Amino acid sequence: MSEIHGIDSTRVPKHVAMIMDGNGRWAKEKGQDRIFGHFNGVKAVRASLKAARRAGVKYLTLYAFSTENWNRPKEEVEALMDLLVQTIVQEVKELDNNDVRLNAIGDLESLPGSCHAELQTAIDQTKDNDGIELILALSYSARWELVRAVQNIVKDNISPDAVSEELIGSYLCTHSIPDPELVIRTSGEHRVSNFLLWQIAYSELYFTAKYWPDFREEDFFDALRDYQSRERRFGKTAEQITQTGNE
Ligand code: FPP
Repeated sequence: MSEIHGIDSTRVPKHVAMIMDGNGRWAKEKGQDRIFGHFNGVKAVRASLKAARRAGVKYLTLYAFSTENWNRPKEEVEALMDLLVQTIVQEVKELDNNDVRLNAIGDLESLPGSCHAELQTAIDQTKDNDGIELILALSYSARWELVRAVQNIVKDNISPDAVSEELIGSYLCTHSIPDPELVIRTSGEHRVSNFLLWQIAYSELYFTAKYWPDFREEDFFDALRDYQSRERRFGKTAEQITQTGNE
């Protein structure tokens, strides 16, 4: 068995999705503004991407801004959008050098023009890379995505008999991305918060009490080790899984 950090390289999840939570509380505990927490959250983004790449994960999705986050105070929303543009502009070369393909899911049209434009430039610049795909969920919520999918299915005059799991999947933002095998949420909250509801039907959920700005490579490896210790049954019995091999 080939291993890094005690992780079996033959059973690494292809897709890991992360709910980055706890920036505000992290900052508050330090007597700082919530925005200070978001700034420090960028270190955890870098660390997670690096760890995922080293472990051989092929898709990493980060819940960076939910549809509901538009309801936060105006200054916080503006600061988050600025931080996003700044980070993308600063990191795009590094992403490209490290064979990272950037992608984004969500209601991207609702982002401020500069944010949408920089994002699109970075996506275009990195489109031929295939080390790992970094997917930013921006102005995203699973219910928004499902409503949009149903609207488009109806607009396309799809007959009821033609509606299948595959067809619905093909109308989601994630149509070209495999479902995540593992979802990680930081900050001790045990919720999925409107994130990839269709896609995580069989995902393993991993929760850590660490606030997002403190999350580092070793924490990502802990989550992978925990994932590898679980038996994934997909509705079958343990005996059936042992006979056919654990995924
Ligand atoms: C949740 O913490 C965090 C967010 C809503 C924003 C995450 C954004 C970043 C880490 C910035 C950089 C991201 C990228 C992809 C460049 P919270 O504010 O909900 O914290 P709380 O629950 O403690 O209030």
